[in-house]
Amino acid sequence: MGSLNGTKNVVLPTQNAQVVVLSPNKQLLCAMTVLRDQETETPAFVSAFQLVAHQLMTAALDLVPTESLVVITPTKSVYRGMRPTRRVCGISILRAGASMEDSLRQSYSGPLSFGKILIQRDEETCLPTHLYSKFPKDIANRFVLILEPMLATGGSASKAIDLILEAGVPEQDIVFVNVMASRKGIEVLTRQFPRLKIVTAAVDDDLTASGHIAPGLGDFGDRYYGTA
Ligand code: URA
Repeated sequence: MGSLNGTKNVVLPTQNAQVVVLSPNKQLLCAMTVLRDQETETPAFVSAFQLVAHQLMTAALDLVPTESLVVITPTKSVYRGMRPTRRVCGISILRAGASMEDSLRQSYSGPLSFGKILIQRDEETCLPTHLYSKFPKDIANRFVLILEPMLATGGSASKAIDLILEAGVPEQDIVFVNVMASRKGIEVLTRQFPRLKIVTAAVDDDLTASGHIAPGLGDFGDRYYGTA
């Protein structure tokens, strides 16, 4: 599916309410075009990515539970507002996920901490292997945003989610925040984790033989960090 052809936040792939696809506003469409264009160099890639990441964070942070809060404004008026009831933790899947940390910092004014997970594909078994992780001590009580720009086969993502569940975070308190997903990756995660939520800017139809999303944008880390 050419992922940005709809008209508003949509539910994919089979009317699955777990998956929020950003509404294709023109700013987003233009930024996604820059990201997908093979001619785009790293500085332009990074600034287009920042725009997309900001919109993703706004949608993902909208899923953090809130409660009503009444405040008095400087004009001595009553304002009926709200505040988050949960502390938030961003967990980046390295290395690409680290690119989304600044955007989360800039988008959220409440208490925030960060964790990291490093997963690599084992050359012999081809299975995702957990190499390193570090979470805040109170992770089990936090609302977790997993930061991973690309969701291809779902192997690393599902390993990361397992680690976060093992650390005591309930599945319904996890949001997978993602720039671009393959249809297969979405199917794998939603089948395996029925209470997980996914926020993405695009869902593409295909995966290449080398496991890249197609049409896609190539290797995100190489393009973002300029290591191509
Ligand atoms: N990771 C990437 O960087 N790109 C893809 O297309 C898939 C996984």
